[in-house]
Amino acid sequence: MKHLFWSLALFFCFNHSIAIVRATNKLTRDCEILKGIYDSYKIKNFESNCCDMENVDCESINSETRMTRLDLSYTNISEIPKNIVNLDELKKINFSGNNLNGEIPSFFSQLPHLEELNLSKNKFYGQIPKSFLDIKNLALLDISDNRLFGIIPSDFCDMETLKIIKYHNNMNSVYPSTCIREKFGL
Ligand SMILES: *[C@@H]1O[C@H](CO)[C@@H](O)[C@H](O)[C@H]1NC(C)=O
Ligand SMILES: *[C@@H]1O[C@H](CO)[C@@H](O)[C@H](O)[C@H]1NC(C)=O
Ligand SMILES: *[C@@H]1O[C@H](CO)[C@@H](O)[C@H](O)[C@H]1NC(C)=O
Repeated sequence: MKHLFWSLALFFCFNHSIAIVRATNKLTRDCEILKGIYDSYKIKNFESNCCDMENVDCESINSETRMTRLDLSYTNISEIPKNIVNLDELKKINFSGNNLNGEIPSFFSQLPHLEELNLSKNKFYGQIPKSFLDIKNLALLDISDNRLFGIIPSDFCDMETLKIIKYHNNMNSVYPSTCIREKFGL
């Protein structure tokens, strides 16, 4: 009987603590995702309290602390980590000054709170993806210094939140629509 009591007590404690860990720690998960990114791309100087890192900001959102800014500029990565979409409270992302190449991936539009996206100074090639238009809160987009080409469609002028697009130093054939030139400059 005594034995059974302790077994049950342990069982409940154990289950309970797992529930607490699951419920309280989205931030722990954010930091784990970031650690995974650092490990796979061999980026140095990860800190387990990831909010303490200079290139990370965290904020309280619905009374939970979450990662809201991630600056991985000049970290020599050659691919955008796909699981960045799991850092779902991110507002600001900077991937400037890396070796990113190929087409710009479309998954940024899965980040519902994204406001600033800086992809400048890479080797992105191809057209400017229309998926940017699905980023509802986008305010700043920097795709300058890449190898992009094609039209920047006038649909970008209709994005209410968008204040800045930087697109200089791409292939000569990047062609901004008239309204883009008028609204955002060259
Ligand atoms: C940057 O990454 C490339 C591989 O993508 C590697 O060859 C090079 O040595 C790296 N440079 C530095 C400074 O780590
Ligand atoms: C990264 O880009 C953002 C704009 O999105 C800018 O405010 C920030 O200063 C950049 N970071 C660095 C290290 O230049
Ligand atoms: C993007 O990041 C680069 C390098 O970190 C910075 O020089 C540039 O000003 C940023 N772009 C904007 C629009 O803030």
